[in-house]
Formats: sequence, C-alpha cells, structure tokens
Amino acid sequence: MRRATAPLAAAALAVAATVTSPHAGAQAPARSGEAVYQALCSVCHAEGKDTAPKTGDRKAWAPRIREGQVALTGTAAAGIRLMPARGGDPSLPLEEFARATVHLANASGAQWKDPDPAMLERIAAVEMRRVEQLRKKQR
Ligand code: HEC
Repeated sequence: MRRATAPLAAAALAVAATVTSPHAGAQAPARSGEAVYQALCSVCHAEGKDTAPKTGDRKAWAPRIREGQVALTGTAAAGIRLMPARGGDPSLPLEEFARATVHLANASGAQWKDPDPAMLERIAAVEMRRVEQLRKKQR
C-alpha cells in the first residue's frame, strides 16, 4: 500500500509547484529585481539606448538617486519622456517594477532595499499622481 501512495504524493507536489510558479498569475510571488531587469529593462538600460541612463553610469544616475527611492520609482513607473510606463509591460506588477529599479539604482551607486508594503503604497501614490498629470497634459 505504501508504494501506491508515492505517485500521488508526487502529483500533489507537482500541482503545488505549478500554483507557486512565477507564471501562475496574480498570486505569484514577486520576481527578483535582477530577474525583471534582465527580462525587460536591460534592453534599453544595459547600453543606454536613446536617452536611457546606462546601468552602472554613476554620473547619469546620481541626480536621479538623489530624488529618493519613492519619487524616482513612482515617476519612472508612470513613464517619463522616452521611458515607457512600467518599462513597456502594462502587466508588470508595481512591486516587480520597484525591485528592478532597486537593481538598476544599486548597480549605479545607490544602496536601496526592495520596498516593503508601506513604501510600495507611497510609490503607487506617486505613480498615480504622475499618470494623472500626464493625462492632463495630453488633453
Ligand atoms: C524602451 C526602452 C526602455 C525600457 C524597456 C526601460 N527603460 Fe527606463 N528609461 C528609458 C529612457 C529613455 C529613460 C530616460 C528618460 C528621461 O529621463 O528622459 C529611462 C529612465 C529610467 C529611470 C529614471 C527616470 C527618471 O525620472 O529620471 C528609471 C528609474 C528607469 N528608467 C527604470 C526602468 C526599469 C526598472 C525598467 C524595467 C522594468 C526600465 N526602465 C525599462 C528607457 C527604457
């Protein structure tokens, strides 16, 4: 009898693994900043495409880092000039965008930490305000 339960247990584990995988939807745990950076942001920031501040270019990043983590992350998430909102992926969760921003900033001289829920709320508020401003400008 013991043997017969083993495949069942394996199947249950497989189901659990699927549910917690990064592709399982809204319930998925946030990816690391580095993973998001590699998948999305590096396309423009690794080489400094157009006017994108290059990853590791401390001179380009210093004034931006001085804005502070909340202001910079919120502004960038809303999109600014040639920087597309949420890095060009509207389905990217704000938490993952914020983590990728930490990765970029820390590679360029900052010492930021992944935002906790309280900081994420403040970032979301900045993003919302900026989106409103951008909308008004378009009218
Ligand atoms: C299509 C190209 C492109 C992609 C993809 C992209 N960026 Fe950018 N990003 C830019 C450009 C261009 C700027 C410069 C905007 C400016 O200051 O004029 C920029 C600026 C920024 C800034 C500074 C904003 C400021 O207020 O000065 C941050 C932070 C940033 N990007 C984060 C990210 C993150 C995080 C990702 C990935 C999730 C990402 N970017 C993906 C093009 C891109």
